[in-house]
Amino acid sequence: MGVTKFLTIFVVVFFSLSVILINNGVEGFHKIYSHLQSVSAISVSDLHRTAYHFQPPRNWINGKTGPMYYNGYYHLFYQYNPNGSVWGNIVWAHSVSKDLVNWKALEHALYPSEPFDKFGCWSGSATVVPGKGPVILYTGVTDDKNTEVQCYAIPEDSSDPLLRKWIKPDTLNPIVIADRAINGSAFRDPTTAWRSNDGHWRMLVGSKRKDRGIAYLYKSKDFIKWVRAKHPIHSKTTTGMWECPDFFPVALESREGLEMGVHGNNVKHVLKNSLDMTRFEYYTLGTYFPKMDKYVPDNTSEDGWGGLRYDYGNFYASKSFFDPSKNRRILWGWANESDSKEDDVNKGWAGIQAIPRTIWLDPSRRQLIQWPVEELNSLRGEKVKMNNQKLNKGDYVQVKGVNAAQVDVEATFSFSSLDKAETFDPRWVNAQDLCAQKGSKIQGGVGPFGLLTLASQDLQEFTPVFFRIFKAQNKHVVLMCSDATSSSIKINLYKPSFGGFLDVDLSTGKIPLRSLIDHSVVESFGAGGKTNILSRVYPALAVGNQAHLFVFNNGTEPINVQNLQAWSMKNADIQ
Ligand code: FRU
Repeated sequence: MGVTKFLTIFVVVFFSLSVILINNGVEGFHKIYSHLQSVSAISVSDLHRTAYHFQPPRNWINGKTGPMYYNGYYHLFYQYNPNGSVWGNIVWAHSVSKDLVNWKALEHALYPSEPFDKFGCWSGSATVVPGKGPVILYTGVTDDKNTEVQCYAIPEDSSDPLLRKWIKPDTLNPIVIADRAINGSAFRDPTTAWRSNDGHWRMLVGSKRKDRGIAYLYKSKDFIKWVRAKHPIHSKTTTGMWECPDFFPVALESREGLEMGVHGNNVKHVLKNSLDMTRFEYYTLGTYFPKMDKYVPDNTSEDGWGGLRYDYGNFYASKSFFDPSKNRRILWGWANESDSKEDDVNKGWAGIQAIPRTIWLDPSRRQLIQWPVEELNSLRGEKVKMNNQKLNKGDYVQVKGVNAAQVDVEATFSFSSLDKAETFDPRWVNAQDLCAQKGSKIQGGVGPFGLLTLASQDLQEFTPVFFRIFKAQNKHVVLMCSDATSSSIKINLYKPSFGGFLDVDLSTGKIPLRSLIDHSVVESFGAGGKTNILSRVYPALAVGNQAHLFVFNNGTEPINVQNLQAWSMKNADIQ
């Protein structure tokens, strides 16, 4: 073995021992693993690479920044380390697509080049300014103390449909620097801007003061000179740094998406923040008062750690955008790895983008609904079906004839009575803890029932996605879990039992489930997209054609798989 290779392996092993991520799955973020920065992959490993979830050929990616639709193309910009598979050297990588499924990589849109972004081009967003074209707002990092300023960039040639080259007008940048009242190393991720009736542009910038998460509001007449509004648009104690804020309207009566500036009686607003402290996001639904520059969450929307989540699994730094070509709003999240830094360096890559999801307001007006964009169906290949499959307690039945490592499954599970539902203890407020306690192997009354994904034939490995129904005082409580505990015989992996509660009408006697299974990701949508959970898993046995799919029931109430359709998925063309 050459000295360099030996040193590389030594450094990797040393780091993985000292920086293991088994810390509730939360990594110290914005930490430069300097020894690993230019440690290129020994080789890029395909074993757990995804076939239809976006990922570049190699290296580290994190949150997307400024997804947009412009002149016939979808643009995906994302945080990328060109030099390795750990975070650092952050540029805006750029890919384009006609259908949100197949992607072509272009040259980096933004990379550190100026004094105002020398230490990184961090997250931001894109705004299409009527009559002018797209403008990128992003955070530039000016020094090694992570001093953050807000900058802008415009296409060199807005008639180029691919918007290949971006320029950062340096006489005008940075456009916002932290004033003395603001913590300048916690000041980032400008939102897409919107224009209110007074003709002024507005954008939010994420921040914190002590443990209070804050979204500052800035206003501008010309998109260049920005002034901070007197008060943040919203803030909340104990939530810590608000990264990647997203703020947008949703229609009360329709599934159609809305442009940013729409407000008034027929809409609600959504404010989402990504919480740096735990790396999960929550959102509230509420009312935006443009004249007062305020946003007030509804009293049905918990504002804080217990709040609603787009996804109860591995899903962070998400962004939404309005797609004028189909009048829809699309939400897009990033899913980090759940293995160690050592694994990431060995794999030669880290991070995937979740499947883009259409998002709209639930008729209850208490939560949002999400569903994979319809274009994903173009990858559906060979289909198998299962109808009226009865499952008694302890039964599991294989869904045969699909490529279970790469499959889209839609199933409806029905039950004829809820009499056997277990009693719900009101102290069970945390769904994830409850999933850990009541796993798929723990027998129940109504449920656990659902899918066993990425399973080895002998069930040494499997990732169950399942429901369990409890009887509370005046209502039933439905728990949805995606449990990585048994996903791999490999140790040193973060294997959480992700879970969320599901607000679903049980009088129909059924619950639908869709899971997008893709080698190292299981992305599931409960009850038509009401509660969603993305898990990252790394099976050692259930890989390729050794992966299997089952339906199962481990409750005393018999379950009927009314109908199930599963499509082997073709590879997306992602260059
Ligand atoms: C979230 C985030 C952002 C920051 C960027 C740096 O993914 O931490 O707050 O701008 O990543 O890469």
